Amino acid sequence: MSKKLIGEIETQNLNICYGKHCIIKNVNIKIPARQLTAIIGPSGCGKTTLLKSFNRLLEIRDDVKISGKILVDGNNILRSGLNVSDIRKKMGLLSQKPYPLPMSIYENVAYGIRIHNHIDSKKLENAVNNCLQEAGIWNEIRDRLHDPASGLSLGQQQRLCLARAIAVQPEVLLCDEPTSALDPISAQQIEKLLLKLKKEYTVVLVTHTLRQAKRVADYVIFLYFGEVIEHGPADKVFNNPKHPRTKAYMQGEIS
Ligand SMILES: Nc1ncnc2c1ncn2[C@@H]1O[C@H](COP(=O)(O)OP(=O)(O)OP(=O)(O)O)[C@@H](O)[C@H]1O
Ligand SMILES: [Mg+2]
Repeated sequence: MSKKLIGEIETQNLNICYGKHCIIKNVNIKIPARQLTAIIGPSGCGKTTLLKSFNRLLEIRDDVKISGKILVDGNNILRSGLNVSDIRKKMGLLSQKPYPLPMSIYENVAYGIRIHNHIDSKKLENAVNNCLQEAGIWNEIRDRLHDPASGLSLGQQQRLCLARAIAVQPEVLLCDEPTSALDPISAQQIEKLLLKLKKEYTVVLVTHTLRQAKRVADYVIFLYFGEVIEHGPADKVFNNPKHPRTKAYMQGEIS
């Protein structure tokens, strides 16, 4: 019997163009399940574009052309006829700036759970509380669950967004520079949470900060002007990069 994969992402000959401008060029990578993969590379090299393609978020625009395959657990999510909301349910998204919904702290998490499950209010309450605990924010907000989420600090809002992302039980967490807008303590909290959550979810982290990638990544993808220059286990890519361009990036010669 074949081994059951949960949350493995593979791209085959992936190309992504905005109009005539090709951003992602023939990318072939395998993102291992239940590990933390960091996507690194200079600004504008296509990190966000690649990340967004994993939950088909790019197709909101008409001028985007995508070719090749993106296999999630062996299924090509670019196949026509697939239910896009099913794909997105598998992929939690954490963006650079937290965007809590304009509702209470509790409702931010309950909302997604209700859409996907028919459960009574007691079970819903337990599920919401569990997600808030898993996202490391429960102790700070347990007494004000029904206050507006907009009243939380930025770091708390990001952890609330993490709770909201895991509430729908995704397989993968796609994180686009989730700590770059946060103070150092909040950033550290998010990093720690991602390290804990990788036991249950595949975590893909786009980061500008090499130091952060070194602290947390198991696997690294170095992207440069839309091409994957090097990818592999973090210790190999960081300590013994094969490609001169990767070496230059590691030494801060390319920013
Ligand atoms: N909607 C769009 N339409 C046209 N071009 C776009 C669009 N979004 C991004 N681009 C271009 O695609 C390239 C890659 O952008 P992307 O946001 O993926 O880079 P990035 O590596 O995430 O950069 P950063 O580190 O600054 O966030 C850039 O040249 C950008 O200008
Ligand atoms: Mg980006």
